Amino acid sequence: MNAKVLNGREHWASRLGFILAAAGSAIGLGNIWKFPYITGENGGGLFVLFYLLCVLLVGLPIMLAEFVIGRSTQSSPVAAFSELAGEQSAWKLVGWFGVISGFIILSYYSVVAGWSLNYLLMSIVDATAGKSPQEISGIFDKLYTSGSLNIFWHFLFMAITVGIVLSGVKEGIERWCRTLMPLLFLILAFLLVYGVFSPNSGFIKAAKFVFAPKIETFTSAGALEALGHAFFTLSLGMGAMLTYGSYLPKNEDVVKSAFIITFLDTMVALLACMVIFPILFGHGMEPQQGPGLVFKAMPIIFSNIPGGMILAILFFALLTFAALSSAISLQEVVSSNFMDRKGWTRKKATLITGTAIFIIGIPSALAGSGSLLAQWKDIFGKNFFDTMDYLAPNWLLPMGGFLMAVYVGWIMPRKKLEDEFKSGSKWAALYPLWLFSIKFIAPLAVLLVLLYKTGIINL
Ligand code: TRP
Repeated sequence: MNAKVLNGREHWASRLGFILAAAGSAIGLGNIWKFPYITGENGGGLFVLFYLLCVLLVGLPIMLAEFVIGRSTQSSPVAAFSELAGEQSAWKLVGWFGVISGFIILSYYSVVAGWSLNYLLMSIVDATAGKSPQEISGIFDKLYTSGSLNIFWHFLFMAITVGIVLSGVKEGIERWCRTLMPLLFLILAFLLVYGVFSPNSGFIKAAKFVFAPKIETFTSAGALEALGHAFFTLSLGMGAMLTYGSYLPKNEDVVKSAFIITFLDTMVALLACMVIFPILFGHGMEPQQGPGLVFKAMPIIFSNIPGGMILAILFFALLTFAALSSAISLQEVVSSNFMDRKGWTRKKATLITGTAIFIIGIPSALAGSGSLLAQWKDIFGKNFFDTMDYLAPNWLLPMGGFLMAVYVGWIMPRKKLEDEFKSGSKWAALYPLWLFSIKFIAPLAVLLVLLYKTGIINL
């Protein structure tokens, strides 16, 4: 594949670079922090099976839709819709929706990633040495309620993200993901092998929990949570994959790439479960730990096992890398929008929006300390951080994904769609199947979730 510049636009230097960058976007806190704990809460088994179905039947087709729009227009979301549907068209709002989602998601994602940086540093200085489990889990509460620490880590994480995006698509994003992603797979594989062979491993119990279908623990709410998470984990619904697709040349096989990216993302989510649950079960802990699972339980576990300090460093390095390659994609959507729409340079777009995202994130960083926007919770029932984390994955992404599926399936000229899907693909025969899922299955499934969430239907 050549790296020539089409229409003056920068392109990926290699297919592997693109796949690793897109996989890097998909694989993040969603896989390692969130998936294990929602699997725990939903009793594993059927929940996991249903999640896999959602990824295959809804996520994969929508990812392809984003690649198709991005590559055919060679533009970021707003510019893409204005090119396809016309400058005056309301479809442009789908693009703006994506940019706003990018601001919102990155602003609080960076705060969680900041916790990961904090734990990485703690592991390096062995901060849990000689502490009791209560003291160790208390560390998280101290961190959560410390405004200054949260701001510091949030700032540092945003600065790193901005620094990488500043260097551009090939030199920044692609080069970093090419290093970070293989490292991440390596660390995960190592931790998995460790789990299998460590003396008091709960590996068999964990495998049963994650993979054996148990009808009694499966609920309709769990089914819908699985669908929503499929969006978040694959970075769909706000134009991140659309933007990455816009840096693709026409001879790239988008169908094959989408399969590989989806497969890698799913593998990491399942691997993360098979790393975390054996250690949990091996130490007699329950899987229903909620969102604190990674930050509260893992350090306790690491402090109990020989060589735990090294494992802790590896684990939190992995979590930080995963978060970083996802954050890059969120920042890139926002940056490329202002580059394409306003003609700003990459430097101007990234510095200005990165600073804005840092500022928008301040109330999230201070949510635990309760010092800023303290009345927010009284008004909305959730603190600022939780409100953002609720709004974006549960509403903005599914709505964005739904609209993109409708646009591609029902509005975009059919000939253009077919050409774009098939261009450079050895898997062109899948076109009718994809068309069916993007017209019917994916939008209907998302509609079901949204109606359920508004309470219009009650399963
Ligand atoms: N997919 C990432 C995760 O699982 C998060 C993420 C990155 C994302 N970019 C996105 C989510 C764009 C939605 C849209 O952690």
